[in-house]
Amino acid sequence: MIYQVYPRSFADADGDGIGDLPGLLAHLDQLAGTELSLDVDAVWLSPIFPSPMADFGYDISNFTDVAPVFGSLADLDRLIAECHTRGLRLLLDLVPCHTSIEHPWFVDSRSSRGSARRDWYSWADPSPDGGPPNNWRAGFGGPSWTFDEATGQYYLHSFYPEQPDLNWRNPEVAAAIAEVMRFWFDHGVDGFRVDAISHAMKDPQLRDNPPAIDPVPPFPVDPTGQYRIWNMDRPEVVEVVRFLQRVAAEYPGRLLVGEAFVPVDRLVAYLGDGAGDGFARAFDFELSLIEWSAEAFKVTIRRAERFTPPGIEPTWALSNHDLSRHATRFGERRSRLAALILLTLRGTVCLYAGEEIGMIDAPELPGPPLDRAGRDAQRTPMQWEASPNGGFTSGHPWLPLVDPLSRNVATQRGDPASLLAWYRRLLALRRSSAALRHGALTLHELHPHVLAFTRQDGDERLLVLANLGDAAATVDAASIGASGEVVAATGPRERAAPTSALRLEPREGLVLRAG
Ligand code: GLC
Ligand code: MG
Repeated sequence: MIYQVYPRSFADADGDGIGDLPGLLAHLDQLAGTELSLDVDAVWLSPIFPSPMADFGYDISNFTDVAPVFGSLADLDRLIAECHTRGLRLLLDLVPCHTSIEHPWFVDSRSSRGSARRDWYSWADPSPDGGPPNNWRAGFGGPSWTFDEATGQYYLHSFYPEQPDLNWRNPEVAAAIAEVMRFWFDHGVDGFRVDAISHAMKDPQLRDNPPAIDPVPPFPVDPTGQYRIWNMDRPEVVEVVRFLQRVAAEYPGRLLVGEAFVPVDRLVAYLGDGAGDGFARAFDFELSLIEWSAEAFKVTIRRAERFTPPGIEPTWALSNHDLSRHATRFGERRSRLAALILLTLRGTVCLYAGEEIGMIDAPELPGPPLDRAGRDAQRTPMQWEASPNGGFTSGHPWLPLVDPLSRNVATQRGDPASLLAWYRRLLALRRSSAALRHGALTLHELHPHVLAFTRQDGDERLLVLANLGDAAATVDAASIGASGEVVAATGPRERAAPTSALRLEPREGLVLRAG
C-alpha cells in the first residue's frame, strides 16, 4: 500500500500557504505509527527538488537538493529517518526524461552549439521553411519544439517548453541520472516513482507522427491529436527501464514504480522481475479512467490479469495529482464501494492523499488557473480539521480548500461510521489477510451490475461482491462458495445468509468468507 503525498498540498508548517516537509513530518501519524493511522507501507512524495515550478516541481533545476519552499536536505533526512522508525518506506519522484529550463545542464547545453553538454538534450535545425523540425506536438499543447534564438536551433520538449527533454541516447545523460539515484539511495530513500518514462526515447530520424488513431478504451484520444508513434512508448524505452532498474539493483530492496500512461497490454514492456530486466511495478491507469460500471471494472481487471507478467502484481490507483479525484469522477455516494473494490484487488494499491476522507475536485476555483494543464482542482490542500483553512496552513493557502468543515481528518477520526474509519478497516483487513495481499484473483459472472471475484491464498478464500448498480441486485453467492460470514460490508450488515439468494442493496459491497 502506497500513499501519495503531493507536498505542496499536504501540510504547511511555516505559514507560507504551501505544504512543506516539516508539515509532512508533523502529520506522519495519519500514515503510520499510532492506533488511528491508516498504517500504509510506503509514501510516494511528488517532487520536492529545487524548481522554478512551471510544472510545480516536475521541472527540476537541481536533482540532488530540496527546494527551500519545501524545507532543507536536513528535513528530508529527518523524514527518511522518521518514516523508517514507523516502518514506512519512502519513495521519491524520479523525473529522468526532462529537466527545468533553468537546470545548469540545460543552461550549458543552450550556451553554444559547441557546448560539451549540447547533446545532453535534443537539438535540431529548423525545417526548410524555418519552422519546427517536424510535426510533433507537446502533451500540454503547442509544438514539441521551441526555437532558441542564440544558437539558431530548436530544442525538444514532450511537456511544457520549460521542460526540455534529456537525450537518453547519450550515455553521459544515463550516467548523470544514475548518480542522482545513487545520491538518494545513499540518503536512505527506498525507491522512486519514475515519471513519464514512455517519453525517454524518440525516433533519431525525427519522422512525422500520423494523426491520432482510435484510442484503446478507456484511454482518451491522444491530447496532441497525433498517434505518437515516433516520440512516445518507443521499443527502445525498454533499454532505459533496464538501465534504471540495474542502478536500483545495486542497492538491496529498493523499488521502482514506473509511470507510463499506456494501455496495460503495452505496460507489459516496462515490467520485469525487478532484478534488472524491468520495473517491478508500473501503474495500470485503466482503473483511473474507467466509467462506473461492473462491466468496466471487470474488463479492466481481466486485462490486468491477462497482461501482467507472471510473478508481478498490477499497481492500482483511483486518483492522483494529474487526474480527477474518484469521489468526483464516480460520484461521492460511491466512495465507500470504490474503496472496497480498490482495497480488495490483487496488486499494489496507491491512495492519493485526501481520498480517505472523501475529498472531491474543487468545483470552482477563483482567478486564472495556476496549472496551465488544468489540474488545480485535484490538487487542493489536505483538510485536517474543521476550520476555514482546514488546519492546512496558518497563512493563505496556495489553492483554496473545498469544504473543510464537512470533510476533514479530525472529525472523521472520532467517528467509527466515517469514510476514514472505513478505509482504516479495509486496510487492516488487507494487512491481516494473505488472500487479499497476494492471493490469486478469479472473476465471477453473477449479475450484470455486480462485480464479483474470489481472492484465494492456500486455504484462505474470500469473496468480494460489489453492486455497482443503483438498484438492488439478487445474486446466488452460494454458487461461488460464499459461507455467509461477513468480513467487511459497506453497510450495517453482519450476516449474509441465505447466500443462494443474496440481496445486495444499491452500491452495497461485501467481503465474505468462503464456506
Ligand atoms: C507526469 C506527472 C505530471 C507531470 C508530467 C511531466 O505525468 O505525473 O504531473 O506534469 O509527468 O513531468
Ligand atoms: Mg510552507
